[in-house]
Amino acid sequence: MSQYVLDQTWEGEKERLESIAALTDPATVRYLEALGVKEGWRCAEVGAGAGSIARWLCEHVGASGRVVAVDIDTRFIEMLDYSNLEVRRQNIVSEPLEEGLYDLVHVKILLLHLREREQVLQQLVAALRPGGTLLVEESDIRSIQTCYPPSPLLSKSGAAIASLFERGGVDSAYGLKLLPAVAKTGLKNLGSDCQLSAIQCGSPQSITLSLTLEHLSSKIIQMGLMSQQEVEAALQALRQPSETMIYTPITVSVWGQRA
Ligand SMILES: C[S@@+](CC[C@H](N)C(=O)[O-])C[C@H]1O[C@@H](n2cnc3c(N)ncnc32)[C@H](O)[C@@H]1O
Repeated sequence: MSQYVLDQTWEGEKERLESIAALTDPATVRYLEALGVKEGWRCAEVGAGAGSIARWLCEHVGASGRVVAVDIDTRFIEMLDYSNLEVRRQNIVSEPLEEGLYDLVHVKILLLHLREREQVLQQLVAALRPGGTLLVEESDIRSIQTCYPPSPLLSKSGAAIASLFERGGVDSAYGLKLLPAVAKTGLKNLGSDCQLSAIQCGSPQSITLSLTLEHLSSKIIQMGLMSQQEVEAALQALRQPSETMIYTPITVSVWGQRA
């Protein structure tokens, strides 16, 4: 069974999840609006993290709708206070959603972490009612090795994060494979898009990268992927305002409808 590589008890995890949401939610909201989320919809938000999209869904499906927010760590979604929200502490690999029930199932930056990603994708599709919509958004994290002016240190830290993830069963290129994977499930009316930002080191947007490196730093050092001095220098380079531009992970978004 999949083991989530990131340690949820890490003190900075809420801030890290919020920074991922700040970077990726604007596009997610655009897709959700275009997909027509409306009052009365029954939605599932899987791997809900800090809960920003669960909150958006609760506010858009109204009192007649329902939002089921699932995560193996529900500390942050439990802080949300909506009468139409149901929080479930649930491992989506071993405890699938109910079949044939949901108008919308949304999942973002989760499947790449799961060895059973294709099986889970099938289960998410099975959870849709006929005509229901799946929106799945997954990253290709290889892009974080690219910066300008070139920095061997930042490229090394990006490669170390990808390598550590891969050793833990993460598919760091899953974003690129997402559309064919969703097409295989038989969903109709497929669409896709992707988001990639070039961000400046030291800007508020670069915090996701520095927090992820900080979070993984002891494992990266233990595995000999970088020395302690290199990790410290890379963290400083990511946090200190400079002219250096670095790519975020590419987030690929795919949607489709159950026949
Ligand atoms: C990278 S975060 C993404 C959070 C959120 N979807 C977002 O994009 O901001 C992945 C989330 O999935 C949760 N998670 C990891 N493995 C899971 C599993 N097997 N079942 C349910 N949730 C899981 C983690 O606890 C974490 O909150």
